[in-house]
Amino acid sequence: MPYLSPALNVMIAAARKAGRGLIRDFGELENLQISKKGPADFVTTADSRTERILIEELTRARPGYGLLVEEGGAIEGRDKTHRFIIDPIDGTTNFLHGIPQFAISIALEREDQLVSALIFNPVTDEMYLAEKGHGAYLNDRRLRVAARQNLSDILVASGAPYLGKDGRDVFLTELSGVIASTAGMRRFGSAALDLAWVAAGRFDAFWERNLKPWDIAAGILIVREAGGVVSDMDGRDLMIDNGHILAANDSLHRSLLDLLRGKS
Ligand code: IPD
Ligand code: CA
Ligand code: CA
Repeated sequence: MPYLSPALNVMIAAARKAGRGLIRDFGELENLQISKKGPADFVTTADSRTERILIEELTRARPGYGLLVEEGGAIEGRDKTHRFIIDPIDGTTNFLHGIPQFAISIALEREDQLVSALIFNPVTDEMYLAEKGHGAYLNDRRLRVAARQNLSDILVASGAPYLGKDGRDVFLTELSGVIASTAGMRRFGSAALDLAWVAAGRFDAFWERNLKPWDIAAGILIVREAGGVVSDMDGRDLMIDNGHILAANDSLHRSLLDLLRGKS
């Protein structure tokens, strides 16, 4: 990557350190799948430990920055202009089941603008990075969103509301529209990686509702820096506030907004 800000370097070092622990935990999980109790407690511990390592490393390098973390919530800092938004494991259900589709996600906001982003799958060693105005990268490769324009050619990712989450009926309506008009859909279980894969051109688009800021903050910047368009389901820049998100290339983004809102 041609330009790495000092802050992004700090985020990379923190993610690599936390990632080493996650790889060890992921290896251990294999032994736990066969126990009756299952690995749930172990995963909760791995999640908390990863979160603690990330907070320690980031605050050591950037004391005073605010934090928004999945378990820890909002942690105010002295510096009101900077905030890290962190998901220690995005794709916990995959992690729990021994499926290597999960990631550490870290975004940095400066004055409410996303300026640096990282999504790291430690098992595949894929690190997605973006710096505002400097492009998006997968390890050293520059990323561009896919250029497909016809709905009939595209592969779309989403997330289904799991047990106890709102929005099942809306999701099923949207899903049936997408299945009827596109080449296919995937539900891989990590919103952060879904967005990273849109940036990498593997998926043509991704939509999901009711997500949290830590699921999407890093992915929003990575997709935008790969030339994609990201909005909520009404075309507004309010994804972090309302948790609804659609990401694709410019032309598809418009077609999919219509499709998902039942206008085409
Ligand atoms: C989840 C993943 C999943 C999405 C869920 C999220 P977690 O995050 O991003 O893809 O569908 O809504 O909660 O719980 O694995 O960090
Ligand atoms: Ca998450
Ligand atoms: Ca998580």
